[in-house]
Amino acid sequence: MQSVQISEIEDRIKFVSHEIRNHLSVCDMYSQIIKKYLDKDGYKNPSVYNALNCISQSLQIISMNVTDLKSVNASEPVEIDFKECAEKSVELSKAYVEDKDIEFEVFIKNTVNIKIDENRFISCIVNIIKNAIESIEIKGKISVIGEVKDNRAVLKISNNGKPVPSEKQCRIFDCGYTSKKSGSGYGLYICKKYLNSQNSDIELVKSNKSETTFKITVSL
Ligand SMILES: Nc1ncnc2c1ncn2[C@@H]1O[C@H](COP(=O)(O)OP(=O)(O)O)[C@@H](O)[C@H]1O
Ligand SMILES: [Mg+2]
Repeated sequence: MQSVQISEIEDRIKFVSHEIRNHLSVCDMYSQIIKKYLDKDGYKNPSVYNALNCISQSLQIISMNVTDLKSVNASEPVEIDFKECAEKSVELSKAYVEDKDIEFEVFIKNTVNIKIDENRFISCIVNIIKNAIESIEIKGKISVIGEVKDNRAVLKISNNGKPVPSEKQCRIFDCGYTSKKSGSGYGLYICKKYLNSQNSDIELVKSNKSETTFKITVSL
């Protein structure tokens, strides 16, 4: 009985991932066509190019997750530039701002090559910034400050939104813990699990009325 159910689940995974992949390739193909036409017409708006780059990065992240579902290709750590990766993640996260009034301060002091799976690392940073955006009701500020020091690349992400109550702070990395109506409670859990598997970490430095700060530390 149980084996029948498992094979049904496996079939479903294959079917769903096949469908997702088909539609990902449609999105990818059309964003490339749009880019080509913009280049041809000499269109110069950097925001539109930035949006297309974000779509392309998101497609890669979805594709990586679909691959994960089939557990074919677990993780591919490669050398990537810390500063570039952090800045790319901020651009991607801005899609979640919607109609809020959020000021971003991004300062990556210096950089280094880190050996990590780029899509997974970007996913972690995006998750943290998305939470920061969600904690701000209407107007606020998010800062992303990076520094390479003492054999570590450190990224601090702060916001001045609604804080995590002190009695809940020990639970936020638990699988499924959420304080949101439509939250999943997987973001921080997945982030910590992945970073820990790479000899790296994420922690909540502080959360009070004036500021909530998360710190990602990547060991070099
Ligand atoms: N920047 C933040 N400010 C306030 N609360 C936060 C912040 N980041 C995370 N949290 C808290 O941690 C919980 C877990 O976050 P996460 O794992 O990303 O799941 P989700 O976003 O689906 O709730 C959130 O529901 C929220 O209560
Ligand atoms: Mg989240």
